[in-house]
Amino acid sequence: MFPVAGLGTRFLPATKTVPKEMLPIVDKPLIQYAVDEAIEAGCDTLVFVTNRYKHAVADYFDKAYELEQKLERAGKQEQLEVVRHVLPEGVRAIFVTQAEALGLGHAVLCAKAVIGDEPFAVLLPDDLIWNRDGDGALKQMADLAEQAGASVIATQEVPRDKTASYGIVATEAFEGRSGTITGIVEKPAPAEAPSTLAVVGRYVLSPRIFELLEATRPGAGGEIQLTDAISALLAEEPALAYRFKGTRFDCGTHIGLINATIRFALDHEKLSEPARRMMTDALTELGVRDSD
Ligand code: UTP
Repeated sequence: MFPVAGLGTRFLPATKTVPKEMLPIVDKPLIQYAVDEAIEAGCDTLVFVTNRYKHAVADYFDKAYELEQKLERAGKQEQLEVVRHVLPEGVRAIFVTQAEALGLGHAVLCAKAVIGDEPFAVLLPDDLIWNRDGDGALKQMADLAEQAGASVIATQEVPRDKTASYGIVATEAFEGRSGTITGIVEKPAPAEAPSTLAVVGRYVLSPRIFELLEATRPGAGGEIQLTDAISALLAEEPALAYRFKGTRFDCGTHIGLINATIRFALDHEKLSEPARRMMTDALTELGVRDSD
């Protein structure tokens, strides 16, 4: 499931009309990167929790008859394929509305009726995770979850002065890339954080989380926090923190979005050369200005 009902206030004014998840990295919107990662991990039903203003997300995954006809008539086969394969055959998209932005935990709970009683994944599209030559982060996590019979949460080391921006986990000693979570707390102050291992936007969760979310009262920031329900889950079931292979771009921030754009442009088969030149020119120009 993809919780995409947030207000995206950090990207105003763009997000007045364009949902944050539709902001592009080169030519694909953020949501497409997350969807591709989910499909690679074996997901065939994609549940989007949106709000009533975000028609653009549903429109994007809908069939674009007129556009397809025009591209077909114009013989633009390459573009036609791109438009047609936004979702591959056999994958279905379901949209659920979150009436009020009451927090990530609440958004996940909105998908309960659709997901039912089986393990599922949560992907936050503004965390773009890139593993250039290997399995995507969610595939790595789904394999581990299946093998260990446990929930799995993606984590990453962050500087201690950044703990108040994340859920932070305490764990037993890691074996390889994973360790059993012993505690989890949302946005702790640096002095109170149990570690510097932060939760990032990928989860494979047991369906028990839904009942725990139903019993969760608003926490940090007055929102129903997924972290609080995971904390309750730990008393009943094992959950693993996982250090994924790959690079995470925090595209919920300006600099993260810019960083992803630069890195993807530099890696792009057609854009790599001109992007490199453009960046060198820009830096040279700045250098000249600095020395003026
Ligand atoms: P964020 O807090 O990062 O996203 O939530 P936001 O609220 O959209 O952005 P800012 O902070 O105002 O710029 C993390 C994820 O949870 C979803 C968001 O869409 C985002 O993917 N979310 C958050 C919901 O779906 N519903 C909520 O009530 C809150």
